[in-house]
Amino acid sequence: MKVRNAKIPDARAISALINCYAEHDKMLFRSLAEIYENLQMFLVAEEDDTVVGCCALEIIWSDLAEIKSLAVAPAHKGQGLGRALVEAAVERARDLGVPRVFALTLEPRFFERIGFAVVPREDLPMKVWSDCARCPKQQECDEIAVARSLANGS
Ligand SMILES: CC(C)(COP(=O)(O)OP(=O)(O)OC[C@H]1O[C@@H](n2cnc3c(N)ncnc32)[C@H](O)[C@@H]1OP(=O)(O)O)[C@@H](O)C(=O)NCCC(=O)NCCS
Repeated sequence: MKVRNAKIPDARAISALINCYAEHDKMLFRSLAEIYENLQMFLVAEEDDTVVGCCALEIIWSDLAEIKSLAVAPAHKGQGLGRALVEAAVERARDLGVPRVFALTLEPRFFERIGFAVVPREDLPMKVWSDCARCPKQQECDEIAVARSLANGS
């Protein structure tokens, strides 16, 4: 398995991965257009030339980036791909000089296993909530905020 930057031919596989979970309300839908527009944010996990996982890193501000659109194909869960994708996104954030990353997630225990801590949602700046406008859950948001500081090599 290897994690690498996404390329144009990966867009449909990324869309299929995300939308398979979005159909079950586990993630936000992403159109193919959105994936092409934001392709440079994406990393993919590849096994035998097939994309089996994806993750994106979006810079929010000088001190904060979001890990989003994290998905591992159902048949490949539990093999360390989720961790490898998040660690690659963290590495990218570190290279860019971002000192803190966060995610909004229904899987806080997974993120805790890989060095994140649950934080009060109010700790995150308003700009973080821009995706909420198109989320079907709106006021019934059940996502939990998790964050990891990248200072001191953590
Ligand atoms: C959450 C998800 C990305 C995890 O990917 P994965 O490849 O199965 O996870 P890994 O194998 O890398 O697991 C890393 C660690 O987290 C643990 N873990 C994985 N999923 C977990 C979960 N749902 N709850 C608690 N711990 C979990 C593993 O046991 C492992 O622990 P270990 O290192 O102590 O052995 C994957 O289940 C997924 O795609 N879920 C659906 C989409 C989703 O919810 N995405 C998150 C949106 S922010």
